[in-house]
Amino acid sequence: MSDKIKNDGRSELDPVQVRRSFEQAASAYDQAAVLQREVANRLLERLDYIRFRPARILDLGAGTGFCQQSLAHRYPGAEIHALDIALAMLLQARKKISWLRRLKQRDHFMNADVNALPYANSSMDMIVSNLTLQWCSDLRVVFSECQRVLKPGGMLLFTNFGPNTLKELRHCWSEIDDYSHVNQFSDMHDVGDTLLQSGFSDPVVDMEMITVTYKNVRNVMQDLKQIGAHNVTRGRHRGLTGKGHLQRLEQAYEAYRQQDRLPVSYEVIYGLAWRHDNSPGKNNQPAEIYISTDMIKK
Ligand SMILES: C[S@@+](CC[C@H](N)C(=O)[O-])C[C@H]1O[C@@H](n2cnc3c(N)ncnc32)[C@H](O)[C@@H]1O
Repeated sequence: MSDKIKNDGRSELDPVQVRRSFEQAASAYDQAAVLQREVANRLLERLDYIRFRPARILDLGAGTGFCQQSLAHRYPGAEIHALDIALAMLLQARKKISWLRRLKQRDHFMNADVNALPYANSSMDMIVSNLTLQWCSDLRVVFSECQRVLKPGGMLLFTNFGPNTLKELRHCWSEIDDYSHVNQFSDMHDVGDTLLQSGFSDPVVDMEMITVTYKNVRNVMQDLKQIGAHNVTRGRHRGLTGKGHLQRLEQAYEAYRQQDRLPVSYEVIYGLAWRHDNSPGKNNQPAEIYISTDMIKK
């Protein structure tokens, strides 16, 4: 029997390595994080259709502050708390704060883990998280923490990667060896179930596929490295990936080439859920969501 750890879908993430990867990626992150920015914009556009005025917002896995900046623009009076496990990311985010917000002390930074939020119970009106939850091994822990920290009637809005993310890369590596090269991602239905199990009300979960194309595999690998998206599964190969392996990967990936470009698929899961409000006089309906005719696709 082979002593290699197979890529069997149960690979756990190594938290020390997650933190290290993002610490190292912080200074180059903004140049490479085109997809992350696009997804952040798509996520926050959803707030256009929700009548909700949060006073205190928590951005989980805030990174270099894309969402923080956008939320500050959308809700100028709100206090925004940016939390990230990588201090270097938060230092980048802090540089972007306007002098006015600095003066008003509207932004706060916390170097901490989403699995153990250092905030009081019922202290936040809204929690936002863009493309961070896929770095957490157990969504139940994170969602329970969100449930605890949100005020009754508070909202959780997030994106996460689904199982078809990097499917081409996963398939090519599986033809080369048995190591785990690509992180495992939770299915949309499991995410919805976990929200309910964690006590959230009225969860709405949907997904879309986004394909980014590249000239060659080296550019794919370089971009993933630059945004800190290393393979951090415990079943990864601990040594350096040899030149021969990379050449075989390049050859295998050629099978996907279309119009002279290589596709990289991302399955983006969007989630919205509410903390139940049991207080007298509350009918437990979520904040009003309105739909304009522009939203209805022809
Ligand atoms: C792909 S980046 C996304 C950053 C930002 N939300 C954005 O839209 O650009 C993921 C972020 O999650 C952070 N992160 C990963 N695991 C974390 C954890 N357990 N606790 C807190 N932050 C974490 C990383 O340090 C990184 O900044």
